[in-house]
Amino acid sequence: VLYLKRRYGFSAAHRLFNASFDDAKNWKVFEKCNNPNGHGHNYELELILSGPLDADSGMVVNILDLDQIVEEQLIEHVDHKHLNLDVPFLQGINPTAENLAIAFYERLHPLIPGKAVLVGVRLQESKNNLAEYYGQAPAVPLVLQTS
Ligand code: NI
Repeated sequence: VLYLKRRYGFSAAHRLFNASFDDAKNWKVFEKCNNPNGHGHNYELELILSGPLDADSGMVVNILDLDQIVEEQLIEHVDHKHLNLDVPFLQGINPTAENLAIAFYERLHPLIPGKAVLVGVRLQESKNNLAEYYGQAPAVPLVLQTS
């Protein structure tokens, strides 16, 4: 299996918060990440793609095309933004690394150009914290059609 990985970076603020918790419980669960005015991270996003190798280009996906889509459809929407407040497609989501990885995967999965497929995303939030998401696992094991 051939994978192509491509990295992007952005800086953003967020606040970990659950509206159904009271202030004390929000602080107990999220502690300093619950700071009312937020805090920032320099995020690193890695896309993991797979697909047939194009014999003419030697590529799984044209990086120039991929970069344009990812920049326009994702990075421009989140870079130098407050993820709780400024990003319509993240509204109502508690912006943990886990939830962001899922949201970014779901947003980018239908947009990948050519025959490549987005296998997963890896979102690094800080030196010691990262989340990876590889989409929904099939509910039942896949069985090859034999006839
Ligand atoms: Ni944080």
